[in-house]
Amino acid sequence: MAALKLLSAWPPLCASARLTGGVWSKGCVCYFSTSTRRHTKFYTDPVEAVKDIPDGATILVGGFGLCGIPENLIGALLKTGVKGLTAVSNNAGVDNFGLGLLLRSKQIKRMVSSYVGENAEFERQYLSGELEVELTPQGTLAERIRAGGAGVPAFYTSTGYGTLVQQGGAPIKYNEDGSIAVASKPREVREFNGQHFILEEAITGDFALVKAWKADQAGNVIFRKSARNFNLPMCKAAETTVVEEIVDIGSFAPEDIHIPKIYVHRLIKGEKYEKRIERLSVRKEEDVKTKSSKPGDNVRERIIKRAALEFEDGMYANLGIGIPLLASNFISPNITVHLQSENGILGLGPYPLQNEVDADLINAGKETVTVLPGASYFSSDESFAMIRGGHVNLTMLGAMQVSKYGDLANWMIPGKMVKGMGGAMDLVSSAKTKVVVTMEHSAKGNVHKIMEKCTLPLTGKQCVNRIITEKAVFDVDSKKGLTLIELWEGLTVDDIKKSTGCDFAVSPKLMPMRQITT
Ligand SMILES: *[C@@H]1O[C@H](CO)[C@@H](O)[C@H](O)[C@H]1NC(C)=O
Ligand SMILES: *[C@@H]1O[C@H](CO)[C@@H](O)[C@H](O)[C@H]1NC(C)=O
Repeated sequence: MAALKLLSAWPPLCASARLTGGVWSKGCVCYFSTSTRRHTKFYTDPVEAVKDIPDGATILVGGFGLCGIPENLIGALLKTGVKGLTAVSNNAGVDNFGLGLLLRSKQIKRMVSSYVGENAEFERQYLSGELEVELTPQGTLAERIRAGGAGVPAFYTSTGYGTLVQQGGAPIKYNEDGSIAVASKPREVREFNGQHFILEEAITGDFALVKAWKADQAGNVIFRKSARNFNLPMCKAAETTVVEEIVDIGSFAPEDIHIPKIYVHRLIKGEKYEKRIERLSVRKEEDVKTKSSKPGDNVRERIIKRAALEFEDGMYANLGIGIPLLASNFISPNITVHLQSENGILGLGPYPLQNEVDADLINAGKETVTVLPGASYFSSDESFAMIRGGHVNLTMLGAMQVSKYGDLANWMIPGKMVKGMGGAMDLVSSAKTKVVVTMEHSAKGNVHKIMEKCTLPLTGKQCVNRIITEKAVFDVDSKKGLTLIELWEGLTVDDIKKSTGCDFAVSPKLMPMRQITT
């Protein structure tokens, strides 16, 4: 009787249950059981699972760096020899692993990525005009995929406003002589509440190749640690989603499921996993601080010890690799700072001890890390919702150039170095997040890095709030420009004028540059 009452609460279900000829209880079994008419197909041979991917298909490939990449499915594509692929993936593996293998075999025509990074073959093919690359800010990439899966054709974001992403003209394909053969198209701009946003279109794929941790017999899926990243939104954005998993189990609790089976069309248990680590970073049992304060590293140490004063109790902070992350070693034990990593972690801890190293747990710099009690893992689309939504209090990152009004350039030297913007454009896109740049005051040969107007392609417009160098600290106002607030001992305002490429105000409260005391 109770079951009857329950069913009558869902008229469509009751009606169709009756139509299919079942009695109430049978209809119920049919609808709630996973044993009949399973929509997810199970495979044992990875080649079988991907052999119908045709030449010219668009594939969404999960993973961040080498973390959470579908190793077996990528291996299967090497065997099917499919060609002319458009691959949407945050990165393209490394030269001899992950998607790097499909680049080497020339099976990919176009990459849609945020980061070329340290993959030399990726960069070579791009700069020589053999490969098309649509560089897309990481958060925009995640959200375009999320939107694709959610049936939202386009959305407005502040990420990329005032940069090549908005203006168009970014190189997608080079000619052999280095000129641009195919350029990106400009984006529509609209103003909401006085802020500028650009229109970005959704991404969908013919196939998604995804790496999960566990799947149950119904096809529901769970990811492990920071290996969730792009795998989660990609599951939802393809015509056919192929998931490879490490362990399959009978069932798990419905509230633990990350991806409901409706998004999973094919499942395969991967045969073996190399789970290669891109940047093994370990901590010795003794002090973590010694590494960053060795003598001779004076300039860096000064910047680090000043940057450490930017942390406040209870703050959420995203720190770039290098000086910003090293500054976190100096956070006073008195205060708690929650570190966010844009690949999907809140609550980063120190580097692991040798015996704690886990390939599924890396930071945005692809280094092995640990997490602290109270930490959480999430997907890339969620991570950038957090960032773009202004929930992160502080972003600290390096720069190649900063302008008087806080424009930032740190992702590209045209024709020479194209690492990609990664998540930087998203990280500086919220007016609610304080953006602190840490960098050396000048480039080699005393070339100005703080200047009237950036000459390199921008990462963000009027987004920097503070600049910390080994010589000085400036506050940046997007209308009034720079104000010198701190000065390294022994230097004069004139010295700073000589090494700065634009004018600046001097604070009436100008003080010697502070350093954290430990
Ligand atoms: C961090 O940001 C939140 C939300 O904007 C704000 O409520 C909180 O006070 C900030 N915390 C710190 C320490 O800046
Ligand atoms: C910790 O906080 C107390 C009180 O606020 C302060 O006196 C002390 O100097 C702090 N210690 C450190 C290491 O920052």
